Amino acid sequence: MVGSENAISVKKLSKHFGDLKAVDDISFEVKEGEIFGLLGPNGAGKTTTIKMLTTLIPPTSGTAIVAGYGITKSQNEVRKRIGIIFQDPSLDDELTGWENLEFHAILYRIGKKKRTEKIKEVLELVELLDKKDTLIKDYSGGMKRRLEIARGLIHEPSVLFLDEPTVGLDPQTRRKIWDYIKKLNGMHGTTVILTTHYIEEADYLCGRVAFVDHGKLVALDTPSNLKDKLGGDVVSVQAGANSGRLGKAMKKHSWIKNVSLHDDIVDLSVKDGDRKIPDIVDIARKNGIEIGSISLHKPSLEDVFIYYTGKAIREESGEGMRGVMRRARARTGRRR
Ligand SMILES: Nc1ncnc2c1ncn2[C@@H]1O[C@H](COP(=O)(O)OP(=O)(O)OP(=O)(O)O)[C@@H](O)[C@H]1O
Ligand SMILES: [Mg+2]
Repeated sequence: MVGSENAISVKKLSKHFGDLKAVDDISFEVKEGEIFGLLGPNGAGKTTTIKMLTTLIPPTSGTAIVAGYGITKSQNEVRKRIGIIFQDPSLDDELTGWENLEFHAILYRIGKKKRTEKIKEVLELVELLDKKDTLIKDYSGGMKRRLEIARGLIHEPSVLFLDEPTVGLDPQTRRKIWDYIKKLNGMHGTTVILTTHYIEEADYLCGRVAFVDHGKLVALDTPSNLKDKLGGDVVSVQAGANSGRLGKAMKKHSWIKNVSLHDDIVDLSVKDGDRKIPDIVDIARKNGIEIGSISLHKPSLEDVFIYYTGKAIREESGEGMRGVMRRARARTGRRR
């Protein structure tokens, strides 16, 4: 259940790397017991935000209160009360599942008896008890992710940070992980803040979602309120090189609530979209524009993101490929 107190309160938080404003003056609050999502494309600043909130890097300016303590003044108090699941895998390959968790529990000074109980409990939650004596190097990607979630829960954190919890996993494993997250949130009222660039993940899991783009918070609300803002249906018109011209022509009609352009597609927000399709085709014809295809759907969070930022979340941002290279290098570097 969502409480009335804030588990996280972010105040004008920024992180600059040289000239780059990776996180640019963001403020938001997360209530106790909430599942809150930071949704944005590659390089938006999600991980950097999480790193500051979990005290791993200091902010350039601004601050935040996490689980009752300031991230700059009371780092140790914050760390005791949070769990973190990193974007990049961070398990010890040469240890078994159980040993990885035990090592973590010892770091948190959890006594032998409690530790054994707790490890069993979290392994049961992520359905890995039967794999407890298997070395991590023999785990699948999905099993590793589940074990990392289990590890993040051992010391009973009141706030759990998950950075891209299901990136690269198959749909079935992804759904399982969503279920664990919902379960632990329901069982212990653990506040969850997660980052993702999967629209469905944010939609399914999060009570509220913040859109992040270029270090800025561009919108924040419940998924359904965000979608309602678009009003009605989304009609997507494919008009190739003429998309820009078609978009302009559409903007002249007040019954079209919003026009956004991406990938040579013109998205139109309209009430009763199915009945308006003939009118849309007519406008195109009158402007001498040939339509490649036309389709209609209810607005998704993706449409809302396009509405606010003018681009699809899955589109690679400018630094996208560099980001991939950076991560590839980081991974191979670690294996050496
Ligand atoms: N230590 C660093 N030094 C310089 N630039 C950095 C550093 N860490 C991150 N950045 C840059 O800050 C920006 C935000 O990066 P961040 O990792 O927070 O993005 P993200 O939203 O988590 O992206 P992704 O979806 O790819 O994980 C990017 O442009 C990134 O290259
Ligand atoms: Mg990231």
